[in-house]
Amino acid sequence: MLRHGVIHRYRKFMPVSEATRVITLNEGSTPMVPAYNLSALIHPRLEIWLKYEGLNPTGSFKDRGMTVAITKAVEEGFQAVCCASTGNTSASAAAYAARAGIKCAVLIPEGKIALGKLSQAMIHGARVIQIKGNFDDALRLVRDVAEKYPIALVNSVNPYRIEGQKSGAFEIVDDFQGVAPDFQAMPVGNAGNITAYWKGYKEYKAAGMAENLPRMLGFQAAGAAPIVLGHPVENPQTFATAIRIGNPASWKSAETARDESGGVIGMVTDHQIREAYELLARSEGVFAEPASAASVAGVVKLAESGFFDDVRPIASDHIRLVCILTGHGLKDPDSAIRVAEEPITIEAREEDVLDAIGLAEPALA
Ligand code: F0G
Repeated sequence: MLRHGVIHRYRKFMPVSEATRVITLNEGSTPMVPAYNLSALIHPRLEIWLKYEGLNPTGSFKDRGMTVAITKAVEEGFQAVCCASTGNTSASAAAYAARAGIKCAVLIPEGKIALGKLSQAMIHGARVIQIKGNFDDALRLVRDVAEKYPIALVNSVNPYRIEGQKSGAFEIVDDFQGVAPDFQAMPVGNAGNITAYWKGYKEYKAAGMAENLPRMLGFQAAGAAPIVLGHPVENPQTFATAIRIGNPASWKSAETARDESGGVIGMVTDHQIREAYELLARSEGVFAEPASAASVAGVVKLAESGFFDDVRPIASDHIRLVCILTGHGLKDPDSAIRVAEEPITIEAREEDVLDAIGLAEPALA
């Protein structure tokens, strides 16, 4: 299938007209990978699917929202956009602004964004501004600036971002021929994405495109879990830097998604995230960044608590669950190298190679 991007694919549901000049990098239409190995490991009745958002043009789900946000910013006459970011939003904003031929400024927490993301914002020519503070500080600053000056804010507080990101829900339902999964699991940071997916599912059902709605499962990192704790976290900490957020802008709508869907917003420790991160890569061959693995970590945790034991699935005898893998593993090579086994170094000799592979013993030869 030709990939035209989410605005073209779901035009009816998007805030554009015939006259709108669409800025796209052909985002969306990402693979749904059946996770046979993970399913078997986690729960006998679970049928887990991975929505691999890392295969978007800049390597994260942000592109779905950014195509709409930048398209509308250009339509409304803005010549510059700005955002606060833990990395992925800045990479996406920088790329789409470059394509549109407008300026982009990004505020990021100094020293706390993954290398791949930083390199993207830089190479696309954004003005990259590191602040001595965290994401919440950065967001407060850009909100103030965008209110006073002619620069469009492209964080998910911009409703156009949500409009674009809801397309992820449409794709999932389309992939299952009009049936939403029993559950959808995802990481929660600033809470725009859970808001967007829930909006998408509801709109699709209202339009007669989906039979049912899923239950929404969102997961925060334990060191950055304001929604779970019920209060902002002053100094959020987690190795999943993408979701290192202490005061999410879409807090209320995340709670609405949870409550209306009969879902859960829970938290997972860095240890659990790290285990899920490796498990995904090793058991399914799917490389997602640490924050994305929080969705799998959360599902493991719920399964262990017996959460799925009495669930009656909608479409088959298995409980269908989609994990949103929000960002590509290559965004954050440092984390992979820190978590995984180190490479070994040997002399360039055949016997050493055989020894290193484990082929030296006769039984294996
Ligand atoms: N996963 C990844 C890989 C992310 O980059 C983010 C957010 C999330 C999950 C959480 O999504 O904020 O909508 O709840 N990243 C933002 C950024 C904050 O600046 O790139 P959310």
